Amino acid sequence: MELIDTHCHLTFEELAGGVEAVVARSKAAGVTEWITVGTDTQQNRKAIELAKKFENMYASVGIHPHDAKDATAETMVELKELAQNEKVVAIGETGLDFHYNYSPHQDQKRVFAQQLKIAAELDLPVIVHCREAFDETMEILEQFGSGVKRVVFHCFSGSAQQAKIVLDKGFHISFTGVVTFKNAGKTRDAAKIVPLDRLMLETDCPYMSPEPMRKQKINEPALMLHTARFLAELKGVDLADFAKAVTATSKVFFGLP
Ligand code: NI
Repeated sequence: MELIDTHCHLTFEELAGGVEAVVARSKAAGVTEWITVGTDTQQNRKAIELAKKFENMYASVGIHPHDAKDATAETMVELKELAQNEKVVAIGETGLDFHYNYSPHQDQKRVFAQQLKIAAELDLPVIVHCREAFDETMEILEQFGSGVKRVVFHCFSGSAQQAKIVLDKGFHISFTGVVTFKNAGKTRDAAKIVPLDRLMLETDCPYMSPEPMRKQKINEPALMLHTARFLAELKGVDLADFAKAVTATSKVFFGLP
């Protein structure tokens, strides 16, 4: 089996010290490719450096909504430069987070819109982080995302109704271990309506280990197998077929070899 963790943070301090071992455990679990996702300029640089060291590892570069308040015009120029590195396969994560509100909404919207422009110019897909800001996220995508060909809502935890709106726009949806949580009935209802050619998997590690490993404080790509197994069962598909389908979806979406 060959699964792709389409959204992990292997450069975050919880994992960065032991990436060799993390990658080895991941491969043993059948998770054989990774997109390590940046959140600010420093993490973006680290993500590219790390991806260069491993075959089948790629980077995404972006400014997280939490960090939007610090993003200057210069930050965005640098982001565009980094995005042209051969290991970079996407822009993100970017988007809106009105749950934590670490950055003012205006900054979040501005930096999100700027990243959509960069993605359109470089013909890269966009990894969208959306938390308690669904309508506003759709609005920005509508207003500024017309040139962007591929968009994924990462760590989807919305309703089936919201999933339908996202799918109707032609966007993809990616699930983390959250879908396995006991209280995540709403997310499971959403997962049921996402066809496999629009569905991707991720850990978003080091956060949110899936059941039955939820107690493992530091999540890692190897644990994505549990999410894959869970979703295959939810959709009534054989695990191997499920893996094959979502891996094909991810390869097309991110343009992986
Ligand atoms: Ni993330």
